[in-house]
Formats: sequence, C-alpha cells, structure tokens
Amino acid sequence: MFKRFFILLGIPVLVGVSLAGLEPLMAQNDEAIKAAQEERKQRFKASGASMKALYREHLPAEDYQAIKAEATVLVKWAKDMPEAFPFGSDSDNDEAKPEIWTDFEGFKSAAKAFETASLDLQKAAEQNDISLVKTALGSVGASCKACHKKYREK
Ligand code: HEC
Repeated sequence: MFKRFFILLGIPVLVGVSLAGLEPLMAQNDEAIKAAQEERKQRFKASGASMKALYREHLPAEDYQAIKAEATVLVKWAKDMPEAFPFGSDSDNDEAKPEIWTDFEGFKSAAKAFETASLDLQKAAEQNDISLVKTALGSVGASCKACHKKYREK
C-alpha cells in the first residue's frame, strides 16, 4: 500500500528531473533557431511597449484592469523566456550574450526574478492599491535592467 503510493509519487518527480536536465533546449535546426530569435525579439519589443504604457498611461490613470492585463502578459513571457533561448541561437547580429548559455542557471534565475516581480504587479493591481503598484512596477523595471546588464549586448 505504502510502497505503491511512493511509486506513484516518484513518477512525476522523475519526469520533472529529466525535463529539467534538457535545458536549455537543444536546437533542432536553423529554422527553429531563426524562429526563436524572431519570437524573442517580438516579445521583448512588446514588453518594452508594455512598460511605456504602464508608466505613461495606466499608472497615472490608476487603471487597474489595464495594469493587471499587462502584468499577466509579462508573467507569461517570463515563464516562456528560457525556452526562447535554445542552444545555438546566439548570432552576430543579435544582442544575446554568450553568457546566457555558459551560465544558463543564472539566466533562468534572472528570468525568474522578472516573473516574481510581474506576479507582484498583477497582485497589486488586483488589490487596487496604487502604492503597491508603483513599488511592483519599479521592481519589474529593475529586473529588466539587471538581466540586460549581464546578458544583453548593448
Ligand atoms: C532574463 C533576461 C531578461 C529580462 C528579464 C529582460 N530582458 Fe530584455 N533582453 C534580454 C536579452 C538577452 C535581449 C537580446 C535578445 C536578442 O537580441 O536576441 C533583450 C532584448 C530586449 C529588447 C530589444 C529587442 C529588439 O531586438 O528589438 C528590448 C526592447 C527589451 N529587451 C526590453 C525588455 C524589458 C522592457 C524587460 C522587462 C519588462 C526585459 N527586456 C526583460 C534579456 C532580458
């Protein structure tokens, strides 16, 4: 009885471990690499636009619905970000530093910090609390900058 319980418990753990071992994702081919590069540029551009809209429009208007909507998109992007940087997707004409792949754990924790800050922003908007929103938005911006400093060519 107990044994069976532990076996069942063990399966998801093993699957989780083996999936984690595969990161960063092995790039399949040039097409997949190009697609990943294009997608991440688009999503970074979109998050730049989000930050502008948050600071210039939604924060002054105290538009909590709009703040929450932007934050939700940022959280999703933060979660997907490590997969947008498969091995071999470094190139001369992008701004991704090689350190992303030599220190993928560090890169993932920078993405995680961005995720946590974006989640805080989402929660602050749900509470209709402007001072919490301001603080959380500051942390989101700081998480963008912290990652760029280490992993983006400027
Ligand atoms: C975990 C790391 C990380 C985080 C967090 C991060 N970025 Fe970036 N960002 C990068 C990297 C790496 C590049 C270069 C990507 C490339 O050239 O392939 C980049 C590129 C960009 C670009 C240029 C896109 C282009 O090519 O036109 C913009 C704009 C940008 N980021 C904005 C942001 C904003 C705004 C945030 C926060 C809301 C943010 N980033 C959070 C790592 C990060």
